Amino acid sequence: MSQKIASSGWRYARSGPIATVLRQEAFDVVPAKGEAVVRMVAAPLHRTDAAVINGTALGRKRVDAAAFPRVGGCEGVGQVVATGGAAHLKEGDTVWVAPLQGTWATTIAADPQRLHRIDAKHAGLAVHASTFLMAQQLLQGYARLRKGQVVLQNGGSSATALAVSALAQPQQLRVLTVAAPGPRFEAAKARHAAYQSPVFTYDGKGAREVAAAMGKEGRAALYLNGVGGDYFDHFLKLMAPTAHVVSYGAQNGFGLFVSGSNLIYNELTLEGFFLPTYLRSLTHGQRQTQLDFVLQQLADAKFTYPTTTAAGLGKLPDVWDDVFVKGGSKGIVKIQ
Ligand SMILES: NC(=O)c1ccc[n+]([C@@H]2O[C@H](COP(=O)([O-])OP(=O)(O)OC[C@H]3O[C@@H](n4cnc5c(N)ncnc54)[C@H](OP(=O)(O)O)[C@@H]3O)[C@@H](O)[C@H]2O)c1
Repeated sequence: MSQKIASSGWRYARSGPIATVLRQEAFDVVPAKGEAVVRMVAAPLHRTDAAVINGTALGRKRVDAAAFPRVGGCEGVGQVVATGGAAHLKEGDTVWVAPLQGTWATTIAADPQRLHRIDAKHAGLAVHASTFLMAQQLLQGYARLRKGQVVLQNGGSSATALAVSALAQPQQLRVLTVAAPGPRFEAAKARHAAYQSPVFTYDGKGAREVAAAMGKEGRAALYLNGVGGDYFDHFLKLMAPTAHVVSYGAQNGFGLFVSGSNLIYNELTLEGFFLPTYLRSLTHGQRQTQLDFVLQQLADAKFTYPTTTAAGLGKLPDVWDDVFVKGGSKGIVKIQ
């Protein structure tokens, strides 16, 4: 008979606005046979977490969600309390937990295949390691890029876009980044400058400047689309023949706008990336290799992205407006 373990976390019994449906509750965790138990140390607040809770997340039908009441949060870092018999874990290990719904809780039970040992010195970075695994896959999974080739990306104020620039630098790729000409623009520009990635505005002026920066021969081999809309289309004209376009986000709510004209003279591949599917497609060993690689690369690159931190699980509501409404930072909840 499995033992009950006391936990507490932010649960919701039905989908709806986060501030309305999410409640901090005490409950028991009952690990199934073979499940490990993890005491959570910290978890991120992703924009997607709010969308999962209110039932509007893209791809929500492709994610295995637990029955209601459900705990919010989809990844994080914790310490192993019980291994569930898994050979790759021992008690006290610091682990990255993902992809898993329900990390905004003090203690969780999880399939050990979703737990990856990390060096405790990388714990701060690893809290939202999925961002980095995604950035690395966007860079390596679609185009076979060579030194000096151009990668174009929009959604430049995001943590993902910054990770793309940081991971591309050691490969000597030229990343040109585009961001909304709003309040987050200057800060995004300053962050990307550390990785020699210039940032342009997401408008006609920006498009002309990107074209000039590319020069006639320097068209993009890879275009990473995190926002959509008509300026996605505008920058599509700057792709090299047979280049690759990968869409991974639509946070601004814009659809993908594609005019056919440049496709007539220029073949492009158009693909989509969905993180849960990608993570599930890897074996535990492959995920571990990718995780170790991105954490080390980004630690070497001294990667930092602005964070808004809730100092305890009970303080989660103090930060969600900052994170989800104001924006421009990654929310982190310190659990212990
Ligand atoms: N395909 C997948 O499986 C997958 C997985 C994880 C994340 N994503 C997507 O990847 C993108 C980047 O994710 P992230 O976690 O790095 O960053 P994030 O903080 O979730 O999103 C930042 C992006 O969202 C835009 N945005 C729209 N409204 C905003 C607001 N009120 N405050 C702040 N930003 C706002 C920003 O564009 P501007 O600053 O230009 O307005 C920026 O490009 C997001 O679109 C996310 O949904 C996709």
